[in-house]
Amino acid sequence: MAAPTLTLEHLAKRYGDVVALEDVSFAVEPGEIFGFVGSNGAGKTTTMRIVLGVLAADSGEVRLGGRPVDLDVRRTIGYMPEERGLYPKMKVGSQLRYLAQLHGLSPTDARAAVERWTDRLGIADRLGDEVDALSLGNQQRVQLAAALVHDPLVLVLDEPFSGLDPVAVDVMSEVLVEKAATGVPVVFSSHQLDLVQRLCHRVGIIAGGRMSAVGTVDQLRAGGPVRLVVDAPLAPPGWAEGLPGVRTVATDGSRTLLDLDPDTDDQQVLTAALRTGPVHEFSRQTTSLTDLFREVVSA
Ligand SMILES: Nc1ncnc2c1ncn2[C@@H]1O[C@H](COP(=O)(O)OP(=O)(O)OP(=O)(O)O)[C@@H](O)[C@H]1O
Ligand SMILES: [Mg+2]
Repeated sequence: MAAPTLTLEHLAKRYGDVVALEDVSFAVEPGEIFGFVGSNGAGKTTTMRIVLGVLAADSGEVRLGGRPVDLDVRRTIGYMPEERGLYPKMKVGSQLRYLAQLHGLSPTDARAAVERWTDRLGIADRLGDEVDALSLGNQQRVQLAAALVHDPLVLVLDEPFSGLDPVAVDVMSEVLVEKAATGVPVVFSSHQLDLVQRLCHRVGIIAGGRMSAVGTVDQLRAGGPVRLVVDAPLAPPGWAEGLPGVRTVATDGSRTLLDLDPDTDDQQVLTAALRTGPVHEFSRQTTSLTDLFREVVSA
């Protein structure tokens, strides 16, 4: 079966008086890595649980390749739950084989897949250990193996990078990129925005249970201010005040950080800076996802 599009439409969920989700919609295309970001309590886990059908939405719908997510469809999803779902007293190897078979693999295929993924994730020597004898990061690796062993058509991972060391972060990143390259839609939540920016084709920012932005990082930047760094050592304080569409954000020695409204001509700034004397640096600073995130959640 070809990898399908994962579509979330108008999801809403309340817990008593708490509105956890309100009209959450987005789609993750085959081959796309979608980063799902938001502050603590914003609604990421709630959304992902609804996608997996482990939690029912009050309204709205999740479809995979046009089909509502029922038990059969759910078996094709590789899911990493936030609360982690391993049996602490079961051995790593037997647990992973069991999960793989539960998702439809034959015993032989299950064994091969478990070997492949535990090897890849650097836990092949822990197959005979009980899960709770492993460190937190290694338990996390087992959890990732559990999401991957059944060759899922979709990946839904709730904070897959938390607790991993830098080497495991690299392996995990490679795995997600590879999976996406085979056409699998990948959605994961994370608070590591540099990682999200590096890995994801598109990003969705959720705030207070509502999607406040969805798009590529470039699209999210568009419409926001352009930031300039100007190093003019002889410029008096406040030299950029009064230039139309320009705001001084900070000064750091002879360097000034300026925000320009969209469509403001940056050359007028350069001319003004040159009027004060030499200009040693004049550059645009690209807004990071972290900056964008701060802007969106504080709006
Ligand atoms: N079982 C529950 N009962 C009551 N409220 C809940 C329950 N689960 C979640 N909530 C509330 O729903 C909202 C969304 O929580 P959710 O766990 O989805 O956030 P999150 O984005 O995953 O946060 P984090 O980054 O901390 O993991 C929060 O206000 C939370 O308190
Ligand atoms: Mg969460």
